[in-house]
Amino acid sequence: MIDAGIDISKGYPEVPDYNKVPIYLDEAFSIRNEDYPYIERGKHADPEKKALFGAAKEVIDLTKHIGTEIVGLQLADLTDQQKDELALLIAERGVVFFRDQKLSPQKQWDLGDYWGQIEKHAQVQHVPGLKGNTVIWNDYRAKKGMNLTFKNANYCNFGTGNKFPDRGNQVWHSDLCHEHQTAGYTHLHLDAIPSVGGDTLWASGYAAYDKLSEEMKKFLDGKQGVYCSAHGYLDRNDPFAGPKKIERVHPLIRTNPATGWKSLFVNRNMTVRILGLSPVESDIILGYLYDVYEKNADIQVRFNWKPSKEGYGTSAIWDNRVTQHRSIWDHEGEELRHGTRVTSLAEIPYFDPDSKSQREDLGLPLDE
Ligand SMILES: [Fe+2]
Repeated sequence: MIDAGIDISKGYPEVPDYNKVPIYLDEAFSIRNEDYPYIERGKHADPEKKALFGAAKEVIDLTKHIGTEIVGLQLADLTDQQKDELALLIAERGVVFFRDQKLSPQKQWDLGDYWGQIEKHAQVQHVPGLKGNTVIWNDYRAKKGMNLTFKNANYCNFGTGNKFPDRGNQVWHSDLCHEHQTAGYTHLHLDAIPSVGGDTLWASGYAAYDKLSEEMKKFLDGKQGVYCSAHGYLDRNDPFAGPKKIERVHPLIRTNPATGWKSLFVNRNMTVRILGLSPVESDIILGYLYDVYEKNADIQVRFNWKPSKEGYGTSAIWDNRVTQHRSIWDHEGEELRHGTRVTSLAEIPYFDPDSKSQREDLGLPLDE
């Protein structure tokens, strides 16, 4: 951090001023509640991605359905054309990895700023002087009192407000579903990585949608769900009821503006219910949809972050609109795992009834 020109003399990480942290639900709801113009950088990119692939040493698909690693490129040096093509690649492949990166927090911020409005969280810790570049350092949070143990490793992102506090590991989720304009391109750069473990998994929402029967797809197309925040806030009219989550309504099946493909936009941690169904119906259907994501290993990728060069970091950039992820806290804090994350917020989620599924668009069989 010192090498990158970050002043850590006042402590690290920087925590938001407690006096400015929202306490009440209406305050928290009003943050970014207005439309913000979004330009989808992947939409008009060269579908063959000649500028990006031409400059890379290797482009390796890690699984059939999700995850690509690019070798031989520095994220800090990309041209705008390469950034556009990378956006499209991320939207298509769900997550793209770059090892052996020299990337300052400012350069990471600048790349995120190119892809959309950077989310600046009101509560979470960030790189000193660089709001919007969130510090991902759960071992530090454990020292600050978070109950992070072998049995409670799922606390690593959501604190005690988690909907499922008793799960043995972090729950599958996508980030910031409760926002008016939800998270799009999201970039985690790890600069301290355990020698063993600390992996992350991602799963494809396009493939999850294509796993469904055609009748189930028809049933879900156009339906809406309620999505909640990770953090809780007090209801001004009923403060003694305890913290409540921010809730917003979004389509269950959303169309990605870069690829035009439909994706299953639900996750176990943040989707509360399906509008129009009874609670029992909603729970049963959502439970099945979570399972489609979580139990189909053929639509997942598990990534170990270790760079091949000593002293370098590794970046993963994923599209939160079309994937879920979970991290694995198996190193149990014995070795440092530290990184910085920049989230570019995307469009207001929408469902285009004329859009196609990935397999449909690629002409792949959709057999039952
Ligand atoms: Fe996350």
